[in-house]
Amino acid sequence: MPITRRGLLLGVPAVGALTALAGYGRAGAARASAPGPSGQLELYSWWTEGADQNGLLALLADFKGRAPLLACYNGARSSRAAAGPQAELERRLAAGDPPDSFQCHAGAELAGRATAGRLAPLDQLYRQQGWAERFPAELLPRLRGEDGGYYGVPVGIHRTNMLWSNPAVLSRAGADPAPRTVAELLDSARRVARSGPVGLAVGGSWSCRHLWETVLLAGVGPQGWDALWRGTGWDSAAVAAALRDLRDLLALSNPADRSMTGWEDATALVASGQAGYQVMGDWAEAYLRGTLALRPRVGYDWAAAPGTDGVFQYMSDTFTLAAGARHREAALAWLAECGSLDGQLAFNGAKGAIPARTDLPPQALALFGPYARWSLDQWRDGVAVGSLTHGVVASAAWGARIDAALTVFLADRDVPRFQDALVRAAGG
Ligand code: GAL
Repeated sequence: MPITRRGLLLGVPAVGALTALAGYGRAGAARASAPGPSGQLELYSWWTEGADQNGLLALLADFKGRAPLLACYNGARSSRAAAGPQAELERRLAAGDPPDSFQCHAGAELAGRATAGRLAPLDQLYRQQGWAERFPAELLPRLRGEDGGYYGVPVGIHRTNMLWSNPAVLSRAGADPAPRTVAELLDSARRVARSGPVGLAVGGSWSCRHLWETVLLAGVGPQGWDALWRGTGWDSAAVAAALRDLRDLLALSNPADRSMTGWEDATALVASGQAGYQVMGDWAEAYLRGTLALRPRVGYDWAAAPGTDGVFQYMSDTFTLAAGARHREAALAWLAECGSLDGQLAFNGAKGAIPARTDLPPQALALFGPYARWSLDQWRDGVAVGSLTHGVVASAAWGARIDAALTVFLADRDVPRFQDALVRAAGG
């Protein structure tokens, strides 16, 4: 199971065709004739399709509207990108030919990029924009490199420990929309399976790691979770029990070739009634409500992933300034947009996430649907812990060792062997 990301490079010329973005965003059309500077801003993002892409397009449309740049969606600009956009990004970073700004998760992933010398510091921009007072205190350390400087601008905060469900399927099966424990979810998923649909929809690639970490968080709790990422507790009985839970949940999931199934495909199984539940981050909300136009709490339902109520497992997407960026001023204007109130409202309204900014005017709440308003309350009141799958808590090297262990487990479902491999993975 190669655990990969897709991505694309967006060329954003100062003056150019607006075709692909036409129709997105309010301000764009009104200000499309504003003069822009010469040069080209080149962005890298993995939001290449579906609901994910809508968030980026909304942000670009807002950026376009406020000048200085007119935005043009070019797709991958180099023919070599056909080999895989993520590989293309790595190749260009290694060759000292970076896109001006590229996407990165806050936390260990961002710090790793900074340590590798791929990023330029953003402290001056942070001072200019007053962001240290406007982004949440929990998040600020995750936006810094090992040298203490800021290296990423968050566009929003996603919650990863979420359970999505189909109300009609659950009601027919007599299953619970908000099981409080993994045992309760197992019981309800079995009821769903007995009534026909698949109990739990699971996508391929990193979706399995996402499910794994959510079940592990439920098993060890937020303090135990933080301890795991300090390297302790991997050999505990609580971890063993969580791995058995994972094995049992996978037994109730769609058996198809997961490598062909993206998270959106799995969400679609729930939406169409072919499955009862999915554990996935709240970008699924953008798909269910935005793309599929389902009604919240009617066409789909949500709850904290079982055993994690009151815990907000988060990840934050950031954009960066590449070291050696050719269009530095344009990239700084883009980053100012990413951290702006208007940019965050446009992006998060389309993405299922909540703004990272803490200074939302009360009237802005009207721009969000019921899920996002619920999520804002949960972020305010919950215990925040970081996600592994989405780059927050561990280095890429540790993540890769876990992926290797998980790949074996998905094939053999051998819990003691998996736990041993996780213990070794934590040892480096
Ligand atoms: C995350 C990403 C989210 C969303 C999700 C599904 O890692 O940062 O914003 O895109 O994957 O693709």
